[in-house]
Amino acid sequence: MAMPRRRLLVLALLAATSVHAADKPRPWMDTSLSPDKRADLVVAQLTQDEKFRLIRSEFGDNEKGKPQKPAGALGSAGYTPAIERLGIPAVQETDAGLGVRSAGLTGKGSTALPAGLAVAASFDPAIAYAGGAMIGSQARRKGFNGLLAGGVNLVRDPRNGRNFEYAGEDPILAGTIVGNAVKGIQSQHIISTVKHYAINALETGRNTLSADIDETALRESDLLAFELVLDIGQPASVMCSYNRINTVYACEHPWLLNTVLKQDWGYKGYVMSDWGGVHSSAAAANAGLDQESAGNVFDDQVYFDAPLRKDLADGKVPQARIDDMVHRILRSMFASGIIDHPVKAAPIDFNADAVVSRKAAEAGSVLLRNENNLLPLSASVKSVAVIGGHADKGVITGGGSSSVEPPEGNAVPGLEPTDWPGPVRYQPSAPLAAINAQTGGKAKYADGTDIAAAVKLAADSEVAVVFVQQWTAESFDPATMALGGDQDALVAAVAKANPKTIVIIQNNGPVKMPWLSSVDAVLDVWYAGARGGEAIGNLLFGKVAPSGRLPVTWPKDESQLPRPVIVGAGLAGGKPADKVDYNIEGADVGYRWFQKKNLTPLFPFGYGLTYSSFDYSGFKVSQANGEVVADVTVKNTGKLASIDTPQVYVTAPDGAPRRLAGWARVPLQPGQSRTVHIKLNPHALARYQDGWKVAAGSYTFQLGTSATTFAGEAKAAVPAFSVKQ
Ligand code: BGC
Repeated sequence: MAMPRRRLLVLALLAATSVHAADKPRPWMDTSLSPDKRADLVVAQLTQDEKFRLIRSEFGDNEKGKPQKPAGALGSAGYTPAIERLGIPAVQETDAGLGVRSAGLTGKGSTALPAGLAVAASFDPAIAYAGGAMIGSQARRKGFNGLLAGGVNLVRDPRNGRNFEYAGEDPILAGTIVGNAVKGIQSQHIISTVKHYAINALETGRNTLSADIDETALRESDLLAFELVLDIGQPASVMCSYNRINTVYACEHPWLLNTVLKQDWGYKGYVMSDWGGVHSSAAAANAGLDQESAGNVFDDQVYFDAPLRKDLADGKVPQARIDDMVHRILRSMFASGIIDHPVKAAPIDFNADAVVSRKAAEAGSVLLRNENNLLPLSASVKSVAVIGGHADKGVITGGGSSSVEPPEGNAVPGLEPTDWPGPVRYQPSAPLAAINAQTGGKAKYADGTDIAAAVKLAADSEVAVVFVQQWTAESFDPATMALGGDQDALVAAVAKANPKTIVIIQNNGPVKMPWLSSVDAVLDVWYAGARGGEAIGNLLFGKVAPSGRLPVTWPKDESQLPRPVIVGAGLAGGKPADKVDYNIEGADVGYRWFQKKNLTPLFPFGYGLTYSSFDYSGFKVSQANGEVVADVTVKNTGKLASIDTPQVYVTAPDGAPRRLAGWARVPLQPGQSRTVHIKLNPHALARYQDGWKVAAGSYTFQLGTSATTFAGEAKAAVPAFSVKQ
């Protein structure tokens, strides 16, 4: 059928305009220019509406009773549309702390890493990097170019429900591990977002409470972890947290965002809010918030649209600030590579990626106890009782926005809570199957709900392996460190029936173990991830020697904590406190608190056993040109190959509690020895006084096998120097 002339003319004109638009030079696509220059060139082209569209994301999914998914969004936590006329892509953001949460282009399911605490317990930046790169590559194949990944809040309380997403209590360890995870993610040309800035140390009352702390103490603890992540990983974005700090909300905190992050640290990327973390327009923008996240669903109103436009018209916020916000967002899009390397759908090799997860679980599991060298078990063991924890199905994961649906589906569906912060998910990697694979089918299972049946199986078996677990999630903190339900009674009863009892703990952090002295072995696997079962099998039978070290101090009970009670804690929760006083411990978090108070924990930070033994010689510390290094020779004096992690702690002349300054992971065959050269982090020697400064004086360096056990000591005279920002 012939087309009317007028329509033909319109079509021809349209075609001409689009050819024209595509042909227009795009000088910002010149990759030889700096990300800043490229961003400036785009900003100069943007209309005011386009600018205001960039400084807020929308919720990228459907939610009950909430607005529908925006056109073009893949169904995830956040979405900003493309500016097609300029070749600027949409940003599709998904949670990805431990794996890619949303389905995206390739359908449901992605590979879960073990808990962040497990990755930190590896003390191995390469494990962290590999995990980040794996997640980044899955994100890319699913069509996501923004990852809400990089949790580095310090563990200040073992009950914080999100500890499993973080990297422990020490700022230098946590910053190093998460910095490398971020680097791994961004190696795939994906935006990574370090979070939750800052001192979001409890879930109870997280949207309202004020975390009160002296500014210097904050810089020397939680902020140091962030500073190191920025330094190592250069994340494209920083997510400000829900809580207030010294009464001011983090996302409108001028000191936190403008002074510390952007001015003192020179951060050039953009600050995005946590989901529901914005409470103002001009105040937040002027304080340094660059992008409001999913305000259409989570904030009281979308502050960075009409209200901010009005503030601009009223002179409450300058146009230059709006342009800076836009510049920072675009700069990060160029710097991360999401513009030059657009994401596109591609198949994922889940089995290959799961190997990355298994290796992290193996490196990050911590052997806490091994009396009579019960472990490793021999493959010729005659019978194994496997008890509890759904070990016939899989390994548990924590709940909330970091929870990942396995490609094969949840191994134990239907457990409460099935809704937020659930569902409770199990990765389908059954320890029972793994133990059977190691022993040629010598394991039998009792689910542990019938203690008498479990005791009978244990009594009839050569060894008993009991799985206990603690499920926690984003949005609440358990009120106590106790394992829930009958688990303590189950372990005690099994241990009575079989002297060769091994306990496997799956947890968010330290728990109470009233039965500890009655069992021979305890292996902490945290949340063990996509191949947790296989990792547990390999560790129990010595295919791999445990080498993880505690990234947190393990208190005996709550009475040893700076704050024995969390007001309002628990899944049901009560009324939370309006403020939490973190000045009680200040910068002396974790092992430093224990030292200061002269408390003996159940297990110290840095502690972990293995199947071999090590000797140290020649420990010495030297300094030249502001670089302090330790040397030590480590020898494997045992019969099995393993990895040792010598740690160096420093005490400054001011006598403040010691700090971890450096460490090495040293794999050694039996009889083998190696000299390692450990570059110490100068922040461990420094104090914050208008910048990080090391005072001249004599410093004491201790070679630790944990934060409380030492195998050597050296003193070194260190001249005064400033640590470069
Ligand atoms: C969490 C963030 C997460 C965001 C988006 C918030 O509730 O605190 O960690 O990235 O939701 O899902």
